Amino acid sequence: MFFQIAINLGLVLVGVAAIVYMLIRRQFTYWERKGVPYIKLESYLGTYADVINKKKSVPEMLKELFGKLKGERFGGVWEILSPRLFLVDPDVLRDIMVKNFDSWTSRGMTFNPEVDPLSQHVAMLDGKMWKGVRTKLTPTFTSARLKHMHYLLLECAKDLEKYLDSLAQKNEPIEAREVSAKFTTDVIGSCVFGIQMNSLSDEDAAFRKMGRKITDSSSFWSRFTLLVQASSPWLFKKLKLSLTSPDVEEFFLRITREAFEYREKNNVQRHDFIDLLRNLKNTDQKLGEDDVVFDDKLLTAQAYVFFGAGFETSSTTIGYALHELAVHQDIQERLRKELREMQAANKGEITWDGLQGMKYLDKVFQETLRKYPVIPQIERVSVKPYQLPGTNVVLPAGSKCLIPIYAFHHNPEFFPDPEKFDPERFTEEAKAERRPYTFIPFGGGPRNCIGSRFAEQQSKIGIVKVLDKFKLSLCDKSQNPLRYKLGARFLYPERGVWIKVTHLGANDK
Ligand code: HEM
Repeated sequence: MFFQIAINLGLVLVGVAAIVYMLIRRQFTYWERKGVPYIKLESYLGTYADVINKKKSVPEMLKELFGKLKGERFGGVWEILSPRLFLVDPDVLRDIMVKNFDSWTSRGMTFNPEVDPLSQHVAMLDGKMWKGVRTKLTPTFTSARLKHMHYLLLECAKDLEKYLDSLAQKNEPIEAREVSAKFTTDVIGSCVFGIQMNSLSDEDAAFRKMGRKITDSSSFWSRFTLLVQASSPWLFKKLKLSLTSPDVEEFFLRITREAFEYREKNNVQRHDFIDLLRNLKNTDQKLGEDDVVFDDKLLTAQAYVFFGAGFETSSTTIGYALHELAVHQDIQERLRKELREMQAANKGEITWDGLQGMKYLDKVFQETLRKYPVIPQIERVSVKPYQLPGTNVVLPAGSKCLIPIYAFHHNPEFFPDPEKFDPERFTEEAKAERRPYTFIPFGGGPRNCIGSRFAEQQSKIGIVKVLDKFKLSLCDKSQNPLRYKLGARFLYPERGVWIKVTHLGANDK
């Protein structure tokens, strides 16, 4: 009897193991069966095994895969066991992101709004809800509105100058990314929440602490939740996991509520994002089919993503720009000269219009985003079956497509000598000659970065404010060329961006 049970149990286990093995093997032959060229799998951890094992950084891996698929328009890869279509041809990218956007509207991100209200923001939402929220938020970022906020950014820039002044006096190198993160935290705090964050004057400022917490995914729990979210959305929903820690949630709900109440009570208007979000709530909403009703939690979630998506992307970009300016003294001097001309024409001020007119600054900014796209890859998920253009291959709804931004920006066919920092790649003529959809630091199509203009504004102000009073150079701690952090999803420098800042001498001014 006992033996019979043991044998039956053994047979069941072998059967289950055989089915699991066959399902896994079937996943491995997915692209072959579809007739799509693919990169042969060498590990059960998928094509990205070396990234997971921390042997390679994400940008290294993207370049390598792009190279292996040279000559193809796209190819099949796997993230662990999940197949991904890796795009190589910018025309296919345009088809998916722009022309056939209706088939690829999703980012495929799962969340549980009932336990995680701050995750119901525009970057995570899908379908009608995404469309409704995005449509309502888009006018928030028009040039006219950003111009209204320019004075708030200049206020924060003054604090940046004071802070750098104190560091320059100590004659110690600065970690440019951390200094910039304090600046962009203050900017977003002021423009989005209407609060003075004091990150530049107070090492323990609450917002800077929250910022570190949001971007730090090194704890066991956050790794676990992210892994379950990516690998098994079903289980993520079933376990009702949250991507936001309770103290972060409490903090953002409280400060947004307080900001709303304060303005209501004191009838304050600052023309900042919180005024605009309040208007979304207060306007008499005549609801169309795609409209959403903004309650306090939905509004706070949008303010929260402006903070989360906005401060570190911009501060990292400023950090990389300052590094290149420290490496290339000629570019630094040319940019400072342009700044002086702009100031001379504007009574010494950094005006909104003056900043828009700084053509060389724009080239330096674009080239920084080209060489260092902070978000090196993005994804789209299909919401209906999709026939790949020029083929008979039909991908089912729910297929994932990977857009390797970094590999596009570092492909010598699109950008010769890609490791060279050369702002002249962004002259009007060079831009007109370049193949479309090869430069995509802010993504593309209707789901592109909603905050790109604000990012540009705060990054440019940060850069010129540093150049206005300080000379940048490399120091013993600088890493040049910079290498990237292993295991990071974003383009973060391996050892920080260390730079020496000194007060300008009479000859430099
Ligand atoms: C240099 C700075 C920045 C870079 C490089 C950057 C890059 C990106 C990229 C690549 C995407 C994905 C686009 C796509 O899938 O096509 C994105 C989305 C997004 N970004 Fe940015 N971003 C920056 C700054 C900002 C700022 C300052 C804000 C807000 C204040 C912001 C808010 C968002 C939001 C909300 C989305 C999701 C949009 C949607 O799904 O509809 N970003 N960003």
